[in-house]
Amino acid sequence: MAITTSYRTRSGAVPLRSFKTKGRHSGIAGMGVYAPEKVVSNFDLEKLMDTSDKWITERTGIRTRHIAEPGTTTLELATKAARAALDSAGITANDLDMILVGTSSPDGPFPSIACRIQDELDAPGAVAWDMLAACTSFVYGLATADSFIATERADNVLVIGAEVLSRMLDYSNRGTAVIFGDGAGAAVVRPAPEGAGFLSWCLGSDGRGYLQVTCGNKELGAYAAKDPRPIIEMEGPDVFKFAVDIFIRQANEVCNEAGISMEDIDLWVPHQANFRIIDAAARRIGLPLDRVAINIDEYGNTSSASIPLALEEAIRKGRVKTGDNVLLAGFGSGLTWGATLLKWV
Ligand code: COA
Repeated sequence: MAITTSYRTRSGAVPLRSFKTKGRHSGIAGMGVYAPEKVVSNFDLEKLMDTSDKWITERTGIRTRHIAEPGTTTLELATKAARAALDSAGITANDLDMILVGTSSPDGPFPSIACRIQDELDAPGAVAWDMLAACTSFVYGLATADSFIATERADNVLVIGAEVLSRMLDYSNRGTAVIFGDGAGAAVVRPAPEGAGFLSWCLGSDGRGYLQVTCGNKELGAYAAKDPRPIIEMEGPDVFKFAVDIFIRQANEVCNEAGISMEDIDLWVPHQANFRIIDAAARRIGLPLDRVAINIDEYGNTSSASIPLALEEAIRKGRVKTGDNVLLAGFGSGLTWGATLLKWV
């Protein structure tokens, strides 16, 4: 494992932690996604708040977002994505050793969505839990799956990112309400041949940046403050700078660890937070946009679901083939970040 301290956030130096995969390799064997049918356009939002399609498109790249009907649960979205991922991987729920759900918008504090999905799918052999790392949750889930498979403690791991963030939006706050959407994506992680699948990782957190993206009472937290309806707030421009910087640094770290040059990345699947963040980072990494998976125009920022939604779409459109170098990279509230370089199986 390499730790460098070259990265500085507004709060100070942060160790960048990166490592190669050791032990048995693992990779993504199948994926599934689900997004609510209801699509809300920028023009629809113009009727609700002081905003415009022009501003949203130019400043974020978002044109529409899928929004769950009131009463729809995160569990429903997650379960649909999970079933599709199992079908795509050609395994059954009975084969699952672990179910990991990344979500910042669970339907309640407990039981976990992962245990509810275990029940829905009837996966009695799985150990199941939720993971909260905001928009980085899906990458942390993949890293956990990879570690358990590497040490031969699991063979089939279902990793899900699922969100109904629309429950946490204040439609009088145009700074956040236009950004987020709902959706779910899932991946089945299984053993891969030596030298394929996940090759390297860069994972990190900087709790000193906790105020930059929050949901609910900033100091006490939503539960302690008995906040009846926690609302997402963020320091947009600060997060923007952090995001561009961490995307570039993570790409560098995982490529170094995997021993490939950044020019050899065939597809970058970034967390879809803002088109301008992705574009700025892609330029500095030196990647043309035809090697970047972007679907923020349709979905907005779906937090932990954004990377699987973009990756599954790229696979479906034939943009990923065996042997390709695929970079997945996320960042989010916490602050948190995580990236992996995969040789596609
Ligand atoms: N419609 C119209 N105007 C808007 C608006 C909207 N939806 N949202 C903000 N504005 C206005 C602001 O009020 C401000 O007006 P002012 O200059 O009169 O004060 C102006 O646009 C610029 O605001 P600012 O916040 O500086 O805009 P920005 O270019 O930084 O874009 C974000 C705002 C949120 C789109 C951008 O900062 C961003 O994407 N940041 C990253 C956030 C992120 O990734 N969060 C998720 C973490 S996982």
